[in-house]
This record gives sequence, structure tokens and C-alpha cells, in this order.
Amino acid sequence: MTTTFIKGGTVVSATGRGAADVLVDGERIVALLEPGTTVLGSDLAATADTVIDATGKYVIPGGIDAHTHMSMPFGGTNASDTFETGTRAAAWGGTTTIIDFAVQKFGERLEDSLATWHEMAGGECAVDYGFHQIVGDVNAASLSAIRGLQDEGITSFKLFMAYPGVFYSDDAQILRAMQVSADTGLLTMMHAENGPAIDVLVEQLLAQGKTDPYYHGIARAWQLEEEATHRAIMLAQLTGAPLYVVHVSAKQAVAQLAAARDQGQNVYGETCPQYLYLSLEDQLGAPGFEGAKWVCSTPLRSKHEHHQDEVWQALRTNDLQMVSTDHCPFCMKGQKDMGIGDFSKIPNGIGSVEHRMDLMYQGVVSGKITLERWVEITSTTPARMFGMYGRKGVLAPGADADIVIYDPNGHTSIGLEKTHHMNLDYSAWEGFEIDGHVDTVLSRGKVIVDDDQYLGRKGDGKYVRRALSQYLI
Ligand code: URP
Ligand code: ZN
Ligand code: ZN
Ligand code: ZN
Repeated sequence: MTTTFIKGGTVVSATGRGAADVLVDGERIVALLEPGTTVLGSDLAATADTVIDATGKYVIPGGIDAHTHMSMPFGGTNASDTFETGTRAAAWGGTTTIIDFAVQKFGERLEDSLATWHEMAGGECAVDYGFHQIVGDVNAASLSAIRGLQDEGITSFKLFMAYPGVFYSDDAQILRAMQVSADTGLLTMMHAENGPAIDVLVEQLLAQGKTDPYYHGIARAWQLEEEATHRAIMLAQLTGAPLYVVHVSAKQAVAQLAAARDQGQNVYGETCPQYLYLSLEDQLGAPGFEGAKWVCSTPLRSKHEHHQDEVWQALRTNDLQMVSTDHCPFCMKGQKDMGIGDFSKIPNGIGSVEHRMDLMYQGVVSGKITLERWVEITSTTPARMFGMYGRKGVLAPGADADIVIYDPNGHTSIGLEKTHHMNLDYSAWEGFEIDGHVDTVLSRGKVIVDDDQYLGRKGDGKYVRRALSQYLI
């Protein structure tokens, strides 16, 4: 076994920070030590195989992005990042675990879809990965198959109240699936937007010649996010299912979650960096077809309605528990451009898997969240929420040595195509100047990024079997 000694840094957890050295043996952390500790009279810095000097830097548990869509088939094409390219980009950005979605299409056996995703990801990943299951066809067979998911290391499944004719489930299907969720303890994840109502608005806008990307945001009005979020909460309340609402963007949806949580319901929500920094007017409403870069669902919200402030606030008060990216990139050329002249044909999704840790760190810089909360919403809570805590999400003896050394005095410029590592011909984050820099990344003890060099290999990342959520009340 090779040993690695990380010395001189400030170790940050969800609950505090302090000067500590970290000793890694093989794939695991074996000790957190007071600086200067000697073992049997010898200095660990002199005996370890590798010594990393983290003086002046933060030492944090590797990021966990619990919502990605590598190669996802969507809108007549596939997300442009594969498991290979997407997890490599994740590594560059200090994310050492992703949870992606196995997609059951309508008419397909659930078990077959999961096998397909294992085939796509196996041997390809730069960092560890788990799966949620998308249930795109709720029927007797898939309801029964959901009961077998825990044996596969999958403890959460996603339903869609949006996208009629694609992934959509009606209320009857949702009710049945939630009954299984309540019965098994598997977490129901919900895409909460009223799809049938959105489709009417889309049709009407297009008929009026309103075809620009901007109208994607008009059709997917906040009322339809609030309504669906409320309906999901009520169905979860009725059935007793634990509920996790994905990609929350509207302040009114946040209020629905907060109210249900105040009643003691097992209801949780994530948001994504795009809803904290980007807007309907400034990005989706960019001139010409440019706005297509930021077409995602739920959509970017109006800056005049102050959703961003409320979403930041909810992150601080734990009405929202964590931040994932919903990484689902599509290139402008050959993919997003399918929607020129019809915004509804623009594949939905933004690529951010590389930037989540940096973008959320800006909340620390601006004083919106604490350093500890940064670690909590990007790593510790995702680990607890999705049944990986202990092994992931924490720096402690016995945990996987998934470690990021983050330089608060470093700087990261997010620029054009060649300054990021995602397989994407543009950046939704172009022009963002980041205070802070991911210096070194260890995945299960192996240094995979150091000093702006990628040192890992595809296949380094292994499948993570998850337990039931450790977050439920
Ligand atoms: O626009 C998005 N969010 N694309 C990915 C699919 C989804 O709904 O999460
Ligand atoms: Zn979704
Ligand atoms: Zn998604
Ligand atoms: Zn750099």
C-alpha cells in the first residue's frame, strides 16, 4: 500500500474547520492528526510515500454531484459528455463522485435500462459513480422492478411531471410509484413542472411566431413549477413517500418545500448553480439564437422576480439541502441548433459538472454561505441524502480518500471551449472569474488532478452501491 500525507492544510467539514494533517493508506483515510504529530518518534512527512503540502489551503471531502446525465438520450440526440469525458471534467473541478440517471424509456423493461447504463459507464469513469433510476414507464412490471433496485445499490428513482409523451407520469402513476417508495424507503425524486399545461403554452407561443429560446422560459412559467411541486408534496404526504424535488428554480416552489418541511414532512430539494447566477433576461434572452445555450428545465427565472436571492436564502436555512448540476450538455453546433426557429426543439440542458465546486465557493466569498455550509451542500449532504455517508462526504478514518485541496487564493477563469474539459463547444459560464482554485484531487487515494494536470485514467472510477438515505427524519 502507498501512503500519502497531506500536511499543513485547514481541514473543513460540514461542522467545522481546523488545522490538521491527513494520512492516507491505499484507498482510505487512516488518520487526521494534529500538525506535527510523530508516530513512534518519526515524522510522518519523512516516511510517507507521497507528501502534499497544503499550507494555506483548504482540505475538503471530494465533491459529490448527485444529478448528472452523461450521454443521456434526450430531444432526439444524446448529451455530449460521455461517462469518460464527463467524469474527467468532474475530476478537474473537484468532484469525485457523480450519481447519474439510468433511463427507462417508455415500453422498455426497467432492468434492461439499468443494464444498458452499467454497460455505458463500466470501465469508462474517472471518478466513482452511482445511479438513480428514471422510471419512464410506470406499469405493473416497473413497479415490481423498483422493489429490486436496492439489491442493485440504487435507492432513489426519478419521476417526471413534465415532458408528456417522453418521460411523463400522470398522477395515477405517480401515486402508485410513491406507494412503492413509501413501502421500500426508496427516495422519490421528482421533476416538478406541469407538463401538459406547458405543452399548451408552447403550442400557443409558436403559433404566435414566438420561436426564440427566450420563450422556453415563458412557457415554463413559475406557476407551473409551484403547482407541480405542491401536487408532488401532497401525493407524498398522502402516501408517506419521502420526496426529493430536483432542480428547483422558482422561489414559490421553494416556499412549498419550506411549508411542507415546517409540517415535519420528509421533503427535500436541490437547486443548481444556473438558478443562483443566471437569468431569463440576461442569458435565455440573449440576442438571436444565443439563448439556446441556457435552455434547461426548469428554466432560468426572471431577475425582476428575485428568485435567486430566495434560493440562496433557502440554501442557508436548509429549506434546500444541496446543490447538484443537472449536468446535461448539448453542443450548439448539431444539437442545440436543431431548435432554430422552434425553441421547443432545443435539447434541454446545461453543462456545469466541472464548475460546481468553484461556483458554489463564490457563495463563501460573497458571504452568502459559510465555508462549512459549502462543504455540506456540495459533498456531505449529497452523501447522506443518497446513502453513501461514512465512505463518502467526510474526511475521517475509514472513509474513502476522496480529497480536494482547494486554494482560496487561487483564481480560475472560465472561458471559451478550450479552458474547460467538458465535451462541449461553448461554456454556459463563459466570462465567470472564480476566486479560488482546485489544486489537487485524490480519488480513493490516487492523485488524479494536480497542478493543472490530469493524472488519472478512465476506469479509475468504480460503481458505488448506495444504501437507503441517511437523511430522512
Ligand atoms: O434541462 C434539463 N434539466 N435536462 C435534463 C433532464 C432533466 O429534466 O433533468
Ligand atoms: Zn428533470
Ligand atoms: Zn436532470
Ligand atoms: Zn488551474
